[in-house]
Amino acid sequence: MTLRIGILTSSDRSSRGERPDLSGPALAELVIAQGWTVAHTAIVPDDLDVLRETLATWADSGEMDIILTTGGTGFAPRDVTPEATSLVIDRQAPGLPEAMRLESRKVTPHAMLSRAMAGMRGKVLIINLPGSPKAAVENLHVVLPVLAHAVELLKEDPDAEKHH
Ligand code: MTE
Repeated sequence: MTLRIGILTSSDRSSRGERPDLSGPALAELVIAQGWTVAHTAIVPDDLDVLRETLATWADSGEMDIILTTGGTGFAPRDVTPEATSLVIDRQAPGLPEAMRLESRKVTPHAMLSRAMAGMRGKVLIINLPGSPKAAVENLHVVLPVLAHAVELLKEDPDAEKHH
């Protein structure tokens, strides 16, 4: 199954052009290596309303199956990606961030500082990833094996049962 992926980078500095966004392109590289499509990319500031608007617009566009966010999951006051995500989703998918934190905990105790969440808006899965390129890629690697099946289930694809 070819998945269509949106990649949304949340970073004040990158959105102002003060720091290159390395995480978005690193995630895109991994997505393309799966044979999937990068449908949309954007860099936005760590702003609740901008994040919420962008996530809702992308999810409702019908142009992507999964939206990956990178950044804004930590404890800094401007880290609000999980809050924006919680405002736009209708159901949570806690198993994904649970697995990401469990695996990341083996790499760094700082894994406990990621407040990443995941959930569905309609038939689109939104997954928060941490901000650094290393952390974003490591966390995506954890959930990568289940994403195609997740989307099949979301879309009620009749072939989904075959992959249980
Ligand atoms: N997860 C993995 N696998 N590898 C990492 O290096 N860094 C952590 C954590 N998760 C990290 C990780 C750090 S330092 C923080 S602060 C949190 O993710 C949140 O990152 P964010 O604020 O950039 O979103």
